[in-house]
Amino acid sequence: PSFWVVIPAAGVGARMQADRPKQYLRLGDRTLIEHTLDCFLDHPGLRGLVVSLSAADGYWPTLACAADDRVNLAAGGAERANSVLAGIKRLVALGAADGDWVLVHDAARPNLAHSDLARLLESLADDPVGGLLAVPVRDTLKQVGPDGRVVATPDRSLYWQAYTPQMFRLGMLREALGGALAAGIPVTDEASAMEWAGHAPRLIEGRADNIKVTRPEDLDWLTGLRG
Ligand code: C5P
Repeated sequence: PSFWVVIPAAGVGARMQADRPKQYLRLGDRTLIEHTLDCFLDHPGLRGLVVSLSAADGYWPTLACAADDRVNLAAGGAERANSVLAGIKRLVALGAADGDWVLVHDAARPNLAHSDLARLLESLADDPVGGLLAVPVRDTLKQVGPDGRVVATPDRSLYWQAYTPQMFRLGMLREALGGALAAGIPVTDEASAMEWAGHAPRLIEGRADNIKVTRPEDLDWLTGLRG
């Protein structure tokens, strides 16, 4: 199916302890966000793409992809959900309809494989709601108390890690994000807003190496992967 894309890129990335937002760090010859955009820009089903940026962002205009006429900008907000909503509004201005698919993908998740994007799109093509790429947890999980001691060991076969892209019908996602924000619900991904609104997103198993760069060692790991 054809689809639209929102890339929220307005976070500060404090955990990276870098001198710039993490999507502008280098992986090989290009920045993380350039790798991130490539997977979508290469796909024939792409109808349009919006990057939500912080007002203080001076790095974006220096990138080659800033001149690509399929790439549009929106003003990011205080929370990720605000940044995604701003992106969705921009897509509507570009002609996106409520029933269209919108894929939301983290700016700092630069290792999305073409095969994973294709599997997500094909698996959900006829779904009324949508879903997300996800990976079963590998390690044993511990629930921890305030004193740093283990409280419980949940059954790990029930838990998956939520990755992106997350793919939903545009109108449903806009309503869910707006509702969750108004209700003050903490929303760290789009699926949690959809769940809050009463929908049940589908999990599509993806590659574990589609990691979000969060800490310095993540970038070292990806650099090693690319040889
Ligand atoms: O902080 P975290 O790594 O979970 O952020 C995920 C993505 O959401 C990043 O690409 C970040 O730039 C984006 N974000 C945003 N607006 C915010 C907070 C985060 O676009 N207010």
